[in-house]
Amino acid sequence: MNKFVFENSTKVYFGEGCVKEHLPRLLAEYRGDVMLAYGGGSIKRNGAYEDIMEVLKGAGRNVVEFTGIMANPTYAKVMEGAALARAERIGLILGAGGGSVMDCCKAISLAAVYDGDVWSEFWAKPGVIDFELLPLGVVVTVAGTGSEMNGGAVITNEGLKVKTGRDYPACNPKFALLDPAYTYSVPAKQTASGGFDILSHVMETYFSEPNEDNVSDDISEALMKSVIRNLPAALKDPKDGVARSNLLWASTMGENRIIKLGKRMDFECHQMEHQLGAYLNCNHGEGLAVLHPVYYRHIYRDGLPKFRRFAVNVWGIPPEGKSDEELALAGVEALAKFIGDIGLPATLRQLGANEETDLERIADSCAISPGSYRRMTHEEILKIFEECF
Ligand code: NZQ
Ligand code: ZN
Repeated sequence: MNKFVFENSTKVYFGEGCVKEHLPRLLAEYRGDVMLAYGGGSIKRNGAYEDIMEVLKGAGRNVVEFTGIMANPTYAKVMEGAALARAERIGLILGAGGGSVMDCCKAISLAAVYDGDVWSEFWAKPGVIDFELLPLGVVVTVAGTGSEMNGGAVITNEGLKVKTGRDYPACNPKFALLDPAYTYSVPAKQTASGGFDILSHVMETYFSEPNEDNVSDDISEALMKSVIRNLPAALKDPKDGVARSNLLWASTMGENRIIKLGKRMDFECHQMEHQLGAYLNCNHGEGLAVLHPVYYRHIYRDGLPKFRRFAVNVWGIPPEGKSDEELALAGVEALAKFIGDIGLPATLRQLGANEETDLERIADSCAISPGSYRRMTHEEILKIFEECF
């Protein structure tokens, strides 16, 4: 195992009714007005808005609403939220929604207190946060990104056509409230894409050095098997509380740094997907679903022992009578079949690409991960895009 330092400052409250049970006491720890930030209004249909407002009113807190945070949040939206937070002298940001809302709120918590150019200092390159941010608490309404328990914020700069994420421990939410019942209303498409995002986070970590026996890979296998069981169950019955609970916690576990301990990590598919998102504004989990099988067909020979282990331990494929290569490839094909079975797309066309799309330009704009089993080149990324087209 590689060396590591572990810290996670977010306090998590999990379970049905957790907002009404814990938010009153949490609110009391922060002074001033509360900025309630959310997306297009799904929180008004899943019970979250009602519960949050009841608590805020009960506590006599003044509430400023910041709405319309879009999927793939933009830098312009971050700056709009930061200006509002400054003008209203906000004391606490409460973000309610999915990864887009949480990421946008993290960036707002920084931009609201920093006077310089936030994009160039903290997203264009890694920056140093040695000052206090505006405190943030989150209420999660969809499983997928795991943003609730990390400092990651993926922001799209529309002008520059760059979608990029940075993980600053200082941006970790102070608290995260996870009520699986809020996720019952997530439509099938988003359930599948969020579920695949979880699987992708785990795979992007698992398929990297070291290959030797390590606790992180063992936890990853358990998480992948849980998603593979529970995602079809949630699609079959959206109100399956067991399936929704497992997906919600697997989502947090995938991105709360625990499975990354001692690992190098790949995340090349995420780099590719982020740039597809910057150009096509596609759904994150759907983009990942299109890329993963094709990317893995490119690299499985470079990480043969792990791909072999994936086939046997995660997909239950019997190893007898198969060469290492056949077995490894059978695991990748099982993944591709799963993606089809849960109704996710398999081509870039389904994400909105067409003959006019400049795939070469998108490929050239992708960051190259240093942790992959084989370091990609922009030429090979273009080849992957063409095979996905
Ligand atoms: O906008 P509203 O009305 O809230 O609707 C949302 C949105 O349309 C809807 N939704 C959320 N909860 C719902 C619901 N609909 C019905 N019932 C509910 N309970 O779902 C749609 C998608 O929401 P969004 O937040 O965009 O999805 P997701 O959670 O997948 O977040 C995607 C963003 O997170 C970034 C992605 O790149 C993308 O920008 N990521 C953030 C990461 C992080 N911070 O750690 C890691 C990820 O790899 C990812 O890159
Ligand atoms: Zn992701």
